[in-house]
Amino acid sequence: MTRKTLVTGGAGFIGSHLADRLLADGEEVVILDNLSSGARENVPAGARLVEGDILDTELVADLVRDVDSVFHLAALVIVQECIRNWDLGHQINLGGTIGLFRAAAAKGIPVVYASSAAIYGNRSGSECREDSLPMPISPYGADKLGCEHQARAMAEIHGLRSAGLRFFNVYGPRQDPRSPYAGVISKFCANRAADTPHTVFGDGLQSRDFIYVGDIARGLVSARNRAADSGGASVYNLCTGSEKTLLDLAKEIDSVAGRGTTEITHVKPRAGDIRMSLGSPKLAYDELGFQAETSLRNGLTSLWNSL
Ligand code: UD1
Repeated sequence: MTRKTLVTGGAGFIGSHLADRLLADGEEVVILDNLSSGARENVPAGARLVEGDILDTELVADLVRDVDSVFHLAALVIVQECIRNWDLGHQINLGGTIGLFRAAAAKGIPVVYASSAAIYGNRSGSECREDSLPMPISPYGADKLGCEHQARAMAEIHGLRSAGLRFFNVYGPRQDPRSPYAGVISKFCANRAADTPHTVFGDGLQSRDFIYVGDIARGLVSARNRAADSGGASVYNLCTGSEKTLLDLAKEIDSVAGRGTTEITHVKPRAGDIRMSLGSPKLAYDELGFQAETSLRNGLTSLWNSL
């Protein structure tokens, strides 16, 4: 029997790559998205788009009743917007997730939801493991951590089976460089393509654990299969376990593009910026058998070729 899967936020950057993968695996895919940061063009042929809001509890319950599992990626993803509209961000990112959890628990189906490396806050100098003390420094990170706590409580009280995935810095095709939440890789690639200088906040020696979106899609599916089989509420980092500084990243992009060196303009550090972000991939490997397979070089090449 064909597996039927709901992807909230499926018109977004990560959700649309996940939808591609599920369809390729022969699943029937229903996408719930209000197109606030997602785009209709991202929805793959073969998926059904329901244009609606995660806060519409009746709609969510109706859609959940009709599927076998849920991937919950819908969120207010722009950290600055969550700061400007603190209550709205909280309502969507935590309240919307609770509504979704409740509907999935009532139907008895597993949920995989997007958490974030943002739950770790500023842990400069050390690798983030799932048992590291979470110390979010933004309302976005605080609400993502709240989702993890709610998943645990919902498992205790209503037997919800879930997995929360703490995404590190995700990059790949379809991440719009013009969007305020676009990551540094999409911006640097757009700069290289347009032959305009990079703006680097600070000295450029800050580092990130960059993970390719195709690997993220694979990790999401592995986590769903594990949540379905073993129950409870688990959380995993989705990361590579290696870091790259921005200056090295800029060099790598120049090398992939093969058109000379992009100029760099240094400006003052961005307020609240984290110096180093590095995840431990061990738990996801041990329990999900997940390992990022795409090297930064190969991921950058796919992204560059998609432009
Ligand atoms: C990432 C997440 C964010 C999350 C945060 C918490 C992405 C796109 N964002 O933010 O949702 O809350 O982790 O851990 O994954 N930079 C430049 N020049 C630019 C753009 C960025 O120098 O043009 C620098 C930034 O100052 C930062 C680094 O590049 O030091 C990475 O920035 P960015 O890609 O925006 O991601 P994070 O800030 O790590």
